[in-house]
Amino acid sequence: MRLQPLTADNMEQVRIWRNQVPQTLRTPYLLTAEQQAEYYRKVICNRESHTRYFALIQNVPTQVGTHDTAPVERFVGYGGIEGIQWETRIGELSLLIGPEYRRRGYGKRAVSCILAHAWDVLGLETVYAECYECGAPEFWRTIAKQHRAETTTLPRRKYWDGQYWDSLYITFTPQIPEPGPERDAHGVAWISIPQGDYISDYPN
Ligand SMILES: CC(C)(COP(=O)(O)OP(=O)(O)OC[C@H]1O[C@@H](n2cnc3c(N)ncnc32)[C@H](O)[C@@H]1OP(=O)(O)O)[C@@H](O)C(=O)NCCC(=O)NCCS
Repeated sequence: MRLQPLTADNMEQVRIWRNQVPQTLRTPYLLTAEQQAEYYRKVICNRESHTRYFALIQNVPTQVGTHDTAPVERFVGYGGIEGIQWETRIGELSLLIGPEYRRRGYGKRAVSCILAHAWDVLGLETVYAECYECGAPEFWRTIAKQHRAETTTLPRRKYWDGQYWDSLYITFTPQIPEPGPERDAHGVAWISIPQGDYISDYPN
């Protein structure tokens, strides 16, 4: 998997994906194409904004009839860091995998890539994520365990479907890897990225 700059076309796809899962989102209303285009111009393309979002690009196995063909690069999701506070070196991880690409391990890979980018490119020291219990808490519990992150519960964080839902709040800090043959000479976080994955900002 690699992180690539987002295009306007990517953003329209993201809007369609987002509007299908409003129970997972902080924004409590669905977005129009115009609103999404404005967000793209004002926030995503703005270097001064406090967000760094990416297109998640993955080699996806394909089939023609019953035959497997060579994997094809696809835009499988959207993610990054938002609400960055540079003084405190903290930001919030946000992630969305397209419905047709879920449960293939891409979400897990995306978190590793985004965290690596946060530590090694943005220079952050803390990354947090919030998942509503009406969203995908099983995924985030798996992720928290994998990254040895701290978790806590915040009460009544989302009103959805006629009731309040708690959230799972996760705090990630950079892991110091054990020395080993798989360790990259430069990057602390490389160890958590599955083989073959890389971040476009880095040399391979
Ligand atoms: C949540 C989300 C990012 C997970 O991405 P994904 O690519 O489907 O997740 P992965 O395939 O990497 O899952 C890794 C592990 O997490 C757990 N997991 C993921 N989704 C799960 C689900 N719906 N139910 C139970 N466990 C789940 C499983 O243990 C899974 O491993 P397995 O498939 O081998 O059992 C994706 O489903 C998504 O974008 N959903 C909609 C938006 C959303 O909920 N965003 C998060 C805001 S809190």
